[in-house]
Amino acid sequence: MSNAKKTEQTGTPTKNITAIILAAGKGTRMNSPLPKVLHPVCGKPMIEKIINSCLAAGINDIRVIVGHGGNLVKSIIESTVTNQRTISTFHQAQQLGTGDAVRSAQIETLKGDVIILNGDHPLIEAADLTNFVKTFRAEKLDLAVVTCNLKNPQSFGRVIRHQGGLKAIVEAKDASADTLKIREVNTGIYVVSAEILQDYLPRINNHNSKSEFYLTDLISLAADEQCKVAPILSNPRVAFGVNTQAELARANKILFLRKARTLLDSGVLMIDPKNTYIEDDVEVAPGCVIYPQVYLRGKTKIAAFTSIEPNCFIVDCTIGESTTIRANSYLEKTIIANKASIGPFARLRPETEIGEGAHVGNFVEMKKVKFGAKAKAGHLTYLGDAEIGESTNIGCGTITCNYAVDHKKYKTIIGKDVFVGSDSQFVAPVTVGDFAVIGSGSTITKDVPARALAVARAKQFVKEDYVKQKKES
Ligand code: UD1
Ligand code: CA
Repeated sequence: MSNAKKTEQTGTPTKNITAIILAAGKGTRMNSPLPKVLHPVCGKPMIEKIINSCLAAGINDIRVIVGHGGNLVKSIIESTVTNQRTISTFHQAQQLGTGDAVRSAQIETLKGDVIILNGDHPLIEAADLTNFVKTFRAEKLDLAVVTCNLKNPQSFGRVIRHQGGLKAIVEAKDASADTLKIREVNTGIYVVSAEILQDYLPRINNHNSKSEFYLTDLISLAADEQCKVAPILSNPRVAFGVNTQAELARANKILFLRKARTLLDSGVLMIDPKNTYIEDDVEVAPGCVIYPQVYLRGKTKIAAFTSIEPNCFIVDCTIGESTTIRANSYLEKTIIANKASIGPFARLRPETEIGEGAHVGNFVEMKKVKFGAKAKAGHLTYLGDAEIGESTNIGCGTITCNYAVDHKKYKTIIGKDVFVGSDSQFVAPVTVGDFAVIGSGSTITKDVPARALAVARAKQFVKEDYVKQKKES
C-alpha cells in the first residue's frame, strides 16, 4: 500500500501510541567513557528522564534503540525504570543513520501512532509529548515534524515548507546557501502513523553527503505521494540536545532551576534558587527554608517549616517538621522526626533514625542508630549499631566500638535518661539500663544495670611536690 493516505484513520485519542527513542549514537563530543544518554541530568541518566516523560504521558510501548555501550544502557534502563513491561531495547548493530535506527525497532509490529524522539533531549516534558500527539490527531495528519525557529540554526536540518504543508527536511550538510538561511529547523521529534512508517521507511536510501539513512527522507517521500505531512511549530526548548559537557551542564542548570521554581511557587523559601540543587523526585513542603548550596537527592522528603542551612548534602532522607539541619551536614538514608536539630557538620549514615526533638551536634557520626526522642549527642561522637533511649545524654567524645577483631559488628544498647560522661567508649555488645550514669572517660565492657553508676577508668593518684622533688634529685 504505497499510496497510503489517512483515509481510514479515525484519530481517536485513546488509540495506542508507541515511543521510539534513538539512543545508539556515540556522543563523540562528550569526550567521556560513559555512553552519552547515561550522563546524569538532575541526578538521573538522560535516557531515564526521557523514558519517564513518556510514561507520564501515558505511553505504554517504549522502544529504545541502543548501540554504543548498548549493554550498559540496557542494564541501566532495566535497573532504574520501574515500569519494565512497557520498555524494550533494540540493538542497532552499526550506526547507519537515524532512518536505520528506527528500522531497528521491529517496526512491523507497530500499531497506531508513533512518536520518535532523541535520547539526548532531556528538557522534553510529558506535556510536550501529549500536545504533539493531540495536534497530530486533531489535524488528522499522516506525518508531523516538530519544528522551531532558531536564531542560529547551525547543524540542524532545515524545514522546507510548501503551501502550508511540509515538503522536505534538508540536512545542513546537504543544504544550499539559500536553504541554510532558513531559521525553522527540525527538532528531531516526529509523530507518524505506524502504517506510514512501515510503508515508507524501507524506501529511504543513503545517497547523501554522510552516506547515512536519514529518517528525515520520510518527509519528502510521503509528501510526494500526497500524504498529509505538516510541521508542528514548537519552541527551542524541545530542540535542545546535549552533545557536549557544556550542554549537559546547561541542561542541569535549566532543570534544577525548573524544580526550584516549582518549589518557590508552592511556598518553599529559598535564599538563592540559582544555587540550590534539588532533584525532581524530592519533596519539600511549604514553609521550609532552603539556604544556598544545598543539594537534595533521590527520594528525600522534607516536611513543613524545616530549614536546611548551607552546604548540606542530603540523599534519600525523610525529615520531619520544624527540624533544623545546620550547615555542612551529610545525611544519607536517615529518618529524622519533628523538631530535631542536626549539625553543623553532622554525618548521618544509612539506617539511622533520629527521634523527635533530638539533638545531634557538630562532628557527630551515626550509622544504623535508633536515637531516641530528646536524646542528645552534642559533640565529636561516633555511634554505630546502637540504640539510644529517649532523653539520654551522650557526652562529648563518646564512641561505640561496634566493629570487632572477628570483622563482625556488635550492638550497643543504652536505655532512656542515661547520662554518659564525656570520652566514654562502649565495647559492644554491651547494654546500659535506664537512668544509669557512666563516669567520664570510662571504657564500658560489661553491662550496666538500670540506675547504676559505672566508672571504668584508672584511678587518679596525686603525688604532691612531684616536680620539686624531681629537680632536687
Ligand atoms: C538529526 C536530524 C536533523 C535534526 C537533528 C535534531 C537526521 C538525518 N537529521 O540530525 O534534521 O535537525 O537531528 O537534533 O535525522 N542515532 C542512532 N543511530 C544512528 C544515528 C543516530 O541511534 O545510526 C541517534 C543519536 O544517538 C541521536 C539521534 O539519533 O540521539 C540523532 O542523531 P544525530 O546524529 O545527532 O542526528 P543529527 O545529525 O543531529
Ligand atoms: Ca544531534
